Amino acid sequence: MTNATLHLGQTLRFEANPFHAGVEAAQHETQGAVLVEDGLFKAVGRADDLRKAHPETRLVDHGQHLLLPGFIDAHAHYAQTGIIASWGKRLIDWLNSYTFPEEMRFGDRVYADTIAGQYMDFLLAQGTTSVCTFCTIHPASVDALFNAATARNMRVFAGKTCMDRNAPDGLRDTAQSAYDDSRALLQNWHGTGRNSYVITPRFSPTSTPEQLEALGALWAEHPECLMQTHLSEQLDEIDWVKSLFPQARDYLDTYEQFGLLNERGLYGHAIHLEEREKSRLREVNASLIHCPTSNTFIGSGLFDMNGLTADGHLVGLATDTGGGSSFSMLRSMAAAYEIGQLKGRPLHPSELLWLATAGSAQALHCGDQIGNLTPGLEADFTVVDLASTPAIAQRADRATTIWEALFPTIMMGDDRAIRETWVAGQKIALPE
Ligand code: GUN
Ligand code: ZN
Repeated sequence: MTNATLHLGQTLRFEANPFHAGVEAAQHETQGAVLVEDGLFKAVGRADDLRKAHPETRLVDHGQHLLLPGFIDAHAHYAQTGIIASWGKRLIDWLNSYTFPEEMRFGDRVYADTIAGQYMDFLLAQGTTSVCTFCTIHPASVDALFNAATARNMRVFAGKTCMDRNAPDGLRDTAQSAYDDSRALLQNWHGTGRNSYVITPRFSPTSTPEQLEALGALWAEHPECLMQTHLSEQLDEIDWVKSLFPQARDYLDTYEQFGLLNERGLYGHAIHLEEREKSRLREVNASLIHCPTSNTFIGSGLFDMNGLTADGHLVGLATDTGGGSSFSMLRSMAAAYEIGQLKGRPLHPSELLWLATAGSAQALHCGDQIGNLTPGLEADFTVVDLASTPAIAQRADRATTIWEALFPTIMMGDDRAIRETWVAGQKIALPE
């Protein structure tokens, strides 16, 4: 008895990167279908063709709803769930006033388990099926996150946040313990189920050179892992980095000189980059992660999507919860559009969707596993209602193309637009 299921609905998938190939890179079917078997997409095409080819297969008819790859949030802090939308501070004050006191609580495994489960359920309700998240300095916070992900069979990327200075008592490790704990967690979790361990120095102001060096050594021993951190988010932060590392050529150099720059590096924000930083990031083909709701919420600045994609940088999209003001990748696409407008470059809906799916997957080096409706990839997908509120419906009603129909949901949609989320071919029960 086969477990194959044929899902009918509108479908959108990418054959190439729309930033380079234009809108033609996306394929839309008004009456499309995806065949899912053993947790993978087996075939994608027109409903008529696939029904004929698989006449006995169980059908799930999603009507006019749009089947999209599950969204991939390429940078978040799950431990900041409880302090999302905290008022009135900029980066360094925000970290000290809201973030660090909250992260302190994750030494308590019961609390960490509670938040990790709640966070994962928030993601799934928003159509997000994968995330790359910072945890806290506590190994228990990593165990809690991977346990919650494993229980839901989600593909996740996470690591212990390392900090051995400029953080309060109780929220610092050391160069040695950061190395030892990260290594033990990596050995326990990396490659188990759908879990990937990510080496995670928070950012250079909260790590001594000794700690950065230790984590660079760990990465050299495990080059198969990703490494995530923050880069050039706010001007005050950059000044601080320069005063802490007077020998460094620039902010990126504080990572580069300790072995923390290469192709599998993920650099969150990357707003105020100098020319040398841009050319080094491009040379090594590192990933830049755009966090638009965070950049406006904390007042950080405007990411140069146009210039960076034109120069061939790999870019992913992220919420940066809880510096970001939403768990939603729809809202993140909307904010990326608004920042694009402020920079004089309106991003096309195909580009926004790319960033939230296949683009983030490429940035996380997992584009051969998730991020597209492509045969052979894992069947993580979301079912989107393009008329989820009366206000969206009346606008979408006038649409003459799929992009015009989708854009009101990108700009105005929320979890009401997410009708269903499927992970590795299994439907997730979402809250009503
Ligand atoms: N830089 C260092 N840590 C953080 C964090 O938690 N959030 C944001 N937005 N920036 C950071
Ligand atoms: Zn962050």
